[in-house]
Amino acid sequence: MAARMPCPSPALLLTRLLRSRVVRHHHPAAIRVKKNGLATGILTCAAGRRRGNVLSSTKFPPRTIRCCSIVSSPRCRSTEDVLVLGIETSCDDTGAAVVTTDGRILGEAIASQAELLGQWGGVVPKLASEEHRKFIDKVVADALQNAGVQESDLSAVAVTIGPGLSLCLHVGVKKARNIAKAHRLPMVGVHHMEAHALVVRLIEKHVEFPFIVLLVSGGHNLLLLAQNVGQYVQLGTTVDDAIGEAYDKTARLLGLDMKKGGGPALEELAREGDPKAIKFSVPMRGPRYLNCNFSYAGLKNQVRMAIEARNIDGDEVPLSVATAEDRQIRADIAASFQRVAVQHLEDKCRRAVEWARRLAPSVTSLVVSGGVASNHTVRSRLGALASELDLQLVCPPPRLCTDNGVMVAWAGVEHLRLGMFEEPPDQDEPDDVRVDLRPRWQLGEIYEEGQSEARSLKRMGHHQSLTAQVRNRSSEAEGRPASQ
Ligand code: KG4
Ligand code: ZN
Repeated sequence: MAARMPCPSPALLLTRLLRSRVVRHHHPAAIRVKKNGLATGILTCAAGRRRGNVLSSTKFPPRTIRCCSIVSSPRCRSTEDVLVLGIETSCDDTGAAVVTTDGRILGEAIASQAELLGQWGGVVPKLASEEHRKFIDKVVADALQNAGVQESDLSAVAVTIGPGLSLCLHVGVKKARNIAKAHRLPMVGVHHMEAHALVVRLIEKHVEFPFIVLLVSGGHNLLLLAQNVGQYVQLGTTVDDAIGEAYDKTARLLGLDMKKGGGPALEELAREGDPKAIKFSVPMRGPRYLNCNFSYAGLKNQVRMAIEARNIDGDEVPLSVATAEDRQIRADIAASFQRVAVQHLEDKCRRAVEWARRLAPSVTSLVVSGGVASNHTVRSRLGALASELDLQLVCPPPRLCTDNGVMVAWAGVEHLRLGMFEEPPDQDEPDDVRVDLRPRWQLGEIYEEGQSEARSLKRMGHHQSLTAQVRNRSSEAEGRPASQ
């Protein structure tokens, strides 16, 4: 085993840091080396404009100081070689990507489990984690190869630590820690839903905080006010199922080909149907529901009854072998379901905009992300709502709406820029070390008026929310007591 180099003193570290090529290129201002060995600071250009943040650690051997990570703002040119690897394994997609801090996607790779999903009708945690284990090395190697870089060229590793399936999260986190340990890289533990929310800023650089965000995926339906990186107000969530789950269930009952994914298959069939053919009722309307929460379980049930009443058996008769008449009925059900499912999103977004404006009158953007945001009807109907409410609708491109490694790498960049990262794992960390996983992890603090019966709020309460954690860490750094 290689002998560990002694840590340099803070003074020595500072000297080396100031001499390093990248820092010299700018005007380093206020670089501080803390007692715990972390160096943080701000870089400014000649005109005094903020150009980026510095981060490094005395735990790196002195010779690696030239590789200290300089994480800069998107416009900073001198940081082309600052590379962040992102790893995603929270559910059924194994994703990895290498992204630069100025927002270029150098390489990415993904292994989807759609086939398995089609076979089992849903995600089976044990099987999903086995698939992640089978593909993780290849996916990371492919992402690096596509990027034309090696592990040793990386500056940091970001990995999803929650929410998600623990067996699956574990695979990604172990892989990330091994790479970070081998190359002494800082790490960022990413909140999966924050990654969905932030990825839009990689593509649409004009999206600034605060913005309203609707996250629609297989497991979550969230309405948030994004105030900053790591700072969210939760305006609403689902009290039972998420919209993606309702799409998947409906697709299965209608006998669609799940290999394409339930949502995309249903969207395709709905194009052939009449959205007004069946009168499903829109969930949570009326004076009892003056909140921003969602419920899709009732709609799912209405759809199931409509399907049964028409003697459709998707298991026995898949769509591919249905008669023309049967196909038309299924298309009408799909279109009618989609109309009401999206209407529910519109209703709640309308109220969320009102609430968000009370907290942040300057909001100008409604961001919609997560797997279901790749749906064309969702995009066009929410686009119309946004323009009626004088907001701009911003969605990531469809391939970045569904789970992927790019969004995790980018969330890592956003955290690194603000100095929010962890030390590399200890060199002597045992392979079976217990890692920090957060299968149930709330993203934001709940808006007072949004406090409700939401079951998922209780379910998600096992860990302190990301927002509370970030706030408490910054209080501690400033010597103020952390709040609960
Ligand atoms: O964000 P995501 O990839 O994974 C989770 O974090 O859950 O979202 C997956 C969900 C699935 O339920 C899938 O059916 C749905 O997003 N989805 C769609 C579409 N594409 C994916 N739903 C409706 N229309 C689509 N085009
Ligand atoms: Zn997701």
